[in-house]
Amino acid sequence: MNRLAGKKALITGAARGIGRAFAEAYIREGAQVAIADIDIDRARATAAEIGAIAVHMDVTDQTSIDAAVAEAVTEMGQVDILINNAALFTAAPIVEITRQDYARVFDINVGGTLFTLQAVARHMIERGIKGRIINMASQAGRRGEPLVAVYCATKAAVINLTQSAGLDLIRHGINVNAISPGVVDGEHWDGVDAFFAKYEGKAPGQKKAEVGAGVPFGRMGTAEDLTGMAVFLASDEAEYIVAQTYNVDGGQWMS
Ligand SMILES: NC(=O)c1ccc[n+]([C@@H]2O[C@H](COP(=O)([O-])OP(=O)(O)OC[C@H]3O[C@@H](n4cnc5c(N)ncnc54)[C@H](O)[C@@H]3O)[C@@H](O)[C@H]2O)c1
Repeated sequence: MNRLAGKKALITGAARGIGRAFAEAYIREGAQVAIADIDIDRARATAAEIGAIAVHMDVTDQTSIDAAVAEAVTEMGQVDILINNAALFTAAPIVEITRQDYARVFDINVGGTLFTLQAVARHMIERGIKGRIINMASQAGRRGEPLVAVYCATKAAVINLTQSAGLDLIRHGINVNAISPGVVDGEHWDGVDAFFAKYEGKAPGQKKAEVGAGVPFGRMGTAEDLTGMAVFLASDEAEYIVAQTYNVDGGQWMS
């Protein structure tokens, strides 16, 4: 408890799912949290339930990113920790991928991560804050999958971007690292399951059951399974960790 006492955290895409679990864990550890989400109604409802503040942010829109970071700074005084968590999943066979879908998913998952990271890093450098930035990668970024080319490529880019940003920003005392989850049950995976039902002719829930059984740990992950790593990477104990991506996936991937 209180491993993040007094820290101010901005978490994108935290209206629901993994980001929400991170927000709750950070609050339990003594941090103040701003939930930044494009779904502002849900962000406000979540914030009211867990004792956070909500700010509207569309990570594909630079004006929105800058306004949200400024609002978080006004509300909390500063930002010590950023989690780049907002992302969109998409799936299609290679021959059906559209440029529109490719551009949209790259803009959210890669552009959103880069330019939110940039905005918060500028704030941290300006104020001399020895901050922490955590990007959400995925096992999808560790290797390709036949129906998930675009999403996999975005998450590979997030892992690579974490390395470049980590190496660049550590001279300012800002640690950038990433978490790579495997398969985490929740609304995101309800959508993934629906994609596989469409493309592989599976019954609803079938893909989830299959992937859960395939995890060495023996089940799908939960958002709570990831919170320990998110707290650790933001804590003083992680000061010497730079530009890394940690698998938290029940044994799915080893690197
Ligand atoms: N769930 C999994 O199995 C899994 C596995 C590996 C990695 N991840 C990654 O973990 C992170 C969180 O996943 P999740 O399962 O909680 O996802 P989720 O889909 O449940 O939540 C994503 C959140 O991002 C928000 N969002 C979407 N577009 C946005 C935008 N343009 N600007 C701001 N916010 C936006 C949504 O409103 C939503 O609240 C993502 O980066 C995801 O890729 C998830």
